Amino acid sequence: MSDTALFPLSDEHKMIRDTARDFAQNEIAPIAAEFDESGEFPHATIKKMGAMGFMGIEVPEQYGGAGMDTLSYVLALEEISKADAAHGVVMSVNNSLYCHGIMKFGTEEQKKKFIPPVASGKAIGAYSLTEPMSGSDASNMKSRARREGDFYVLNGVKSWVTGGPVADYFVVFMMTNPEKKAKGITAFLVDGKTPGLKRGKKEPKLGIRASATSELIFENCKVPAENRLGEEGEGFKIAMTVLDVGRIGIGAQALGIAEAAYEASVAYAKEREAFGQKIGEFQGTGFKIADMKTRIEAARLMIYNAAMAKERAKITGERFTLQASTAKLFASETAMFCAHAAVQIHGGMGYSKELPVERYFRDAKITEIYEGTSEIQRLVISRAELGLR
Ligand code: CAA
Repeated sequence: MSDTALFPLSDEHKMIRDTARDFAQNEIAPIAAEFDESGEFPHATIKKMGAMGFMGIEVPEQYGGAGMDTLSYVLALEEISKADAAHGVVMSVNNSLYCHGIMKFGTEEQKKKFIPPVASGKAIGAYSLTEPMSGSDASNMKSRARREGDFYVLNGVKSWVTGGPVADYFVVFMMTNPEKKAKGITAFLVDGKTPGLKRGKKEPKLGIRASATSELIFENCKVPAENRLGEEGEGFKIAMTVLDVGRIGIGAQALGIAEAAYEASVAYAKEREAFGQKIGEFQGTGFKIADMKTRIEAARLMIYNAAMAKERAKITGERFTLQASTAKLFASETAMFCAHAAVQIHGGMGYSKELPVERYFRDAKITEIYEGTSEIQRLVISRAELGLR
């Protein structure tokens, strides 16, 4: 990434970007293919990222975080994802879906208990909203939680949980009052060791294979009432508010993938020859490079703009749903566009596992699906613009 006239980087921002870039290129890029192939979770590098402050970048230092701003977060996430999108999503979920939600909606006791282990990278946090029969239609969940004295008893199956097989703590959304639909959903903080919580099948995935994903099965899982996040019925609003932040993170992850695909393509276009000249000299290649670059620059401005909107919201409390959704939509489609073009520019080598380009292609696709598909982003944006909600 580079400075932009709209977002000139401070020395502090440059430092975090450069630190993340050095770490990502020296320690993550060399192992990315191996972990992609095996599908193993990269515990060692994730722990190191935690020790460097990347797992709780915006969390205040008193809770074990790095106490930096949202732009720092997206700059670091972009660099990590450029080396490996699987590391990127683990970082994004820990920072935005887990830590941000508890920092914003948690009690002081909940912050003290559930944030420091995750923000410092000693433990992994996860967010569990989706179910086998409710993905985009998130409020239509079948999982149930009922109050019994000082506990809630949780039952149901959750799916597609990033970090599911390995996470230590979960933010889980369950229906407490089905009649109230979206307003009957409640959020809970669940320790992964709680009896009655089982990890279900691990998903075999197309991309981001090193980020473990699984179902969670709750069978009469008793969670102390003090672990309820927010009030009863506030869960869906919490889930959506947190996803606004998550979507900025996935946008930054997508931007990192797009940049990796672009840089590989420029290098290859300058080196590979066909018909007696460098392939970059053919307009068919050059115009692809131009389109990739243009979309990346636009995506970057949108992601940084969304990051600044979130930063402002710390003072104004205003929602930044529109900035987050437009940025996520554009950046994820940019990642797919750039990865597709990169494979084409590389020809047979783009299809080979000898180069990381085919991995960028597989990894890019998920950014158009998770934390709200492109169709859901279009729904959110059009509803806002047309005043339908
Ligand atoms: N911020 C605050 N409140 C919000 C909000 C937001 N961004 N979006 C909605 N709300 C509120 C609404 O204001 C409304 O409250 P009121 O009635 O008090 O006004 C309430 O939530 C219900 O909103 P809607 O009527 O808009 O709800 P809906 O059922 O029509 O659904 C939706 C809206 C946009 C389709 C939503 O369901 C959605 O975003 N779906 C996609 C879910 C998603 O992104 N899932 C990804 C899960 S995480 C993941 O991918 C895995 C991972 O680990 C990375």
